[in-house]
Amino acid sequence: MLAKLRDLPLYSALIASVRSSEGNTLEGDDERAALRLGTIIRMLDIAKPSSVIETGTNKGLFGFILHALHPGASLCTFDTDPESANAADLLREAGLNITFTLGDTRNTFSAWQGTADFAWIDGGHWGGVCASDIRNAMRLSVPVILADDMDIDEVRRDVADIMTTPNGYRMEMEGAIAILTRI
Ligand SMILES: C[S@@+](CC[C@H](N)C(=O)[O-])C[C@H]1O[C@@H](n2cnc3c(N)ncnc32)[C@H](O)[C@@H]1O
Repeated sequence: MLAKLRDLPLYSALIASVRSSEGNTLEGDDERAALRLGTIIRMLDIAKPSSVIETGTNKGLFGFILHALHPGASLCTFDTDPESANAADLLREAGLNITFTLGDTRNTFSAWQGTADFAWIDGGHWGGVCASDIRNAMRLSVPVILADDMDIDEVRRDVADIMTTPNGYRMEMEGAIAILTRI
């Protein structure tokens, strides 16, 4: 599936649309990317979301996966990088119902009101951004929350802090992804 997605013309267009050197869901090491993709596909298949939140748009690769596998789902995605709007535009032209919000999620997502049934938390990994993003997804009672990059110390600490007190979610780990599901 990884190779199939990377072969699509939209993938190359998205990669070229944003200059950021940040890590991306389908870029980089094949084994790691395939593992991450497998978890995302499995959880999307279970959740069958109709509305999805993503923190950290970057090159729009999570939106690309969502569009390829669950074309009817809508995506609200947030990033501080203005160039990520280019990726959102390409996904919109391809038919994804996508809204891009520019700014720090500690402000933008904290002020966001709406509903979603799936969240991909993959924005800032430092300064409490991950904790803020997860708490906001919990505030909205999103039933399935995936937090990427648990191999980064601060992300792991943020998630551990959140999970030390009862919050109505259980957690399991798959590779570097924490899967939080509402109890
Ligand atoms: C790892 S990349 C996201 C990858 C993308 N989710 C994917 O699936 O390919 C992280 C992104 O988070 C953004 N970011 C970092 N801190 C942020 C913050 N405080 N608010 C919003 N976005 C932030 C960065 O600009 C970067 O584009």
